[in-house]
Amino acid sequence: MEQNRTPERTAKRATIFAVTSGKGGVGKTSLSVNLACEFSRRGHRTIIVDTDLGLANAHILAGIKPQKTLSDYIDGKAELAEIIENGPCKVKFISGGSGVKEMANLDDNGRARICVAIEELSPFCDVILLDTGAGVSKGVTDFVTLADHTILVTTSNFAAIADAYGIVKVVVQDGYQKPIHCVVNRVRSPEEAEQVFLKLKGCTERFLGFDLNWLGLLPEDSSVEGAVLKRAPFSEVFPGSVAARYLSKLVAGLERYLPNTRPAAPAAVRS
Ligand SMILES: Nc1ncnc2c1ncn2[C@@H]1O[C@H](COP(=O)(O)OP(=O)(O)OP(=O)(O)O)[C@@H](O)[C@H]1O
Ligand SMILES: [Mg+2]
Repeated sequence: MEQNRTPERTAKRATIFAVTSGKGGVGKTSLSVNLACEFSRRGHRTIIVDTDLGLANAHILAGIKPQKTLSDYIDGKAELAEIIENGPCKVKFISGGSGVKEMANLDDNGRARICVAIEELSPFCDVILLDTGAGVSKGVTDFVTLADHTILVTTSNFAAIADAYGIVKVVVQDGYQKPIHCVVNRVRSPEEAEQVFLKLKGCTERFLGFDLNWLGLLPEDSSVEGAVLKRAPFSEVFPGSVAARYLSKLVAGLERYLPNTRPAAPAAVRS
């Protein structure tokens, strides 16, 4: 696919970020939805695609009830344009289908069709965020491989760090060479996040010869859980929260990877 792009198409292409983790429940979906909102508030046309196929739940955190999902697209019951929903903060949204066994067990061909569909969104937006499932299955790594950048989420839990190393190992051994940016979630101090990152980075460098990038941290913050209960992004319902402040730093860090980035308006202008 990469080789067939004409120069014009490449110039207009959206930047694709996959948000992934080794261990489940570390905060990928919450981060994906809020990253999407913050990109959008900063003026980037943004779409979030829930690629946690069959167990998609990003729509809940975004407060959306999807009428149609990737499952309808794969079944030939809906065109790509018909499964795009309007989300919060002007973010566009595609759901991966919830409680759909066929989607969870989708074969290589099915996932390849989804990857092509994601590429087709490219001319219509600036940022595509893929909220992946956890683990090292092809249902995760195919979307990591498609993306231009991977955002690797871990907490300071030892199993989460070990599993984060596991997913890096699997994709790097498969030839992955694009950047991986690390976010340490649910920390109680910047020092805690730094220690986790240095541990992980040390292991990937030493054993895999792969250099991980630091993106940033999100603190443990009751606003995140509070927003889930409200079925809304925390950065929308609790814009003054500590988590929202750190989120904005993460997006500022990612903006440098977008071509022709316009400077973000100051917060006062945006609100
Ligand atoms: N920084 C945080 N502070 C407090 N709670 C958090 C934070 N980040 C995530 N959580 C909570 O952790 C839980 C799991 O988050 P989330 O669903 O985003 O994880 P996930 O990695 O997408 O999980 P899965 O692997 O099942 O897809 C949610 O209840 C969420 O509110
Ligand atoms: Mg999730």
